[in-house]
Amino acid sequence: MRHAKVFVAIALSSSAFLVVLYSSLRSDANHTRKLFMQEDNPIQEVIVSMPPPVQQNTDPLPLMTAGPPVEISEDYRKAIKQSTAFWNRKQHSLFRKLDSKDNVTKADFGDWSKCSAISLESLSTNIQDFKSYPQDYQDFLSGMECRDPPILIDQPQKCQSEEDGEVYLLFAIKSVPGSFERRQTVRQTWGQEKVYEGGLRVRTVFLLGMWSMDDPNLNQLVSFEAQHFGDVLQWDFKDTFYNLTLKENAFFRWSLTRCPRVTFVFKGDDDVFVNTQTMLDYLRTLDPNKASKLYMGHIISNSDPIRDSNSKYYVPKTFFEGGYSSYAGGGGFLFSGNLLTELYRVSKYIPFFSIDDVYTGMCFQALGIKPEAHDGFRTFDIRQEDRENACVHKNLILVHRRSPQQTLRLWRYVHSPLLTC
Ligand SMILES: *[C@@H]1O[C@H](CO)[C@@H](O)[C@H](O)[C@H]1NC(C)=O
Ligand SMILES: *[C@@H]1O[C@H](CO)[C@@H](O)[C@H](O)[C@H]1NC(C)=O
Ligand SMILES: *[C@@H]1O[C@H](CO)[C@@H](O)[C@H](O)[C@H]1NC(C)=O
Repeated sequence: MRHAKVFVAIALSSSAFLVVLYSSLRSDANHTRKLFMQEDNPIQEVIVSMPPPVQQNTDPLPLMTAGPPVEISEDYRKAIKQSTAFWNRKQHSLFRKLDSKDNVTKADFGDWSKCSAISLESLSTNIQDFKSYPQDYQDFLSGMECRDPPILIDQPQKCQSEEDGEVYLLFAIKSVPGSFERRQTVRQTWGQEKVYEGGLRVRTVFLLGMWSMDDPNLNQLVSFEAQHFGDVLQWDFKDTFYNLTLKENAFFRWSLTRCPRVTFVFKGDDDVFVNTQTMLDYLRTLDPNKASKLYMGHIISNSDPIRDSNSKYYVPKTFFEGGYSSYAGGGGFLFSGNLLTELYRVSKYIPFFSIDDVYTGMCFQALGIKPEAHDGFRTFDIRQEDRENACVHKNLILVHRRSPQQTLRLWRYVHSPLLTC
């Protein structure tokens, strides 16, 4: 509650924000940490005062390679077409690896520091029209075996139990460094960290990668924001559309270590409107059986890859063939926290895909968990004439997409004691 007041106050006065920022950067606190040293950009080194460092030289998050053998459902295996497409071949080779009881080792996947990009030569040899792929897509392919990027900004205390008990719902919001206004809107509305009626603790994290060369460098602001609000996570990879699967992989690993007992996770975008109370009311009434195997949202079934190279969702034929497993739209979906370990471990046997929510659908199908549709999730928005209607929003769980101003207004209206629906 006190936090809420603090950031409302900050948000009201951007000049105060900057004054605080710069005085913080000059402060002499002895907990300094070098952040964001980039080999190709040595002058970008920034010293920011931070709380006592939570990590020294090693990444504090374990890789979770050990554990019981991973099992992949027959449904999923059957769904993956036998084809010469690159991804299909990779997937079938991982099935064989799993079946031969060879564990997937660091050498096969991951270990960021040792991971080398797949060479262009190898890609051109394996994919006849690789050179005609869009540049971004080529970049995605060359990095698709690199996993578990190091975390730069961590929030180790995020889910620590106080007298309030365990976290019931964790909001994991995909954002990018430049979207401060959207994050602030989420903090002031549906992503507010508090204990809801019935003792339900809600916590929020924003998932960020690094700025890319073409954007202004916001590292200092991001570090300040992370320190001030305690809800920003940042990893050392370029924050681009084709790196969203990597972002998800990084988040799974983080939450396994930092929030292993969370009951539910909501993963979504920073430009959606969420009706937190309606969501919690729904979750609370779930029967325990369902609550432990939940994967819910706006479900997209029987969809096929888009072959138009101008589309954001373009997938080349020589990369992937077959239909997509049913999946929940990435604008926002819910799942059970107790699935995090299995999800992370099964994902080691599923090659990264260029569309993150399609990838998530594959992982759930591999675990044998069917996505469940809920009418309250509207990732494709609602009728034009209802878009400012508070009564309509009161009964929905999620709507994509809303501007910060629309979200703030809707939030106010939905919670107004004067609202009679
Ligand atoms: C900061 O701490 C380091 C090691 O703990 C110490 O050597 C250094 O003198 C300290 N600097 C200041 C300004 O207190
Ligand atoms: C594979 O993983 C299992 C379970 O962690 C472990 O007992 C076994 O020794 C591993 N096998 C190899 C070849 O590393
Ligand atoms: C993903 O991030 C890595 C690490 O920063 C970068 O090398 C790669 O180009 C990025 N991939 C895409 C498709 O942007």
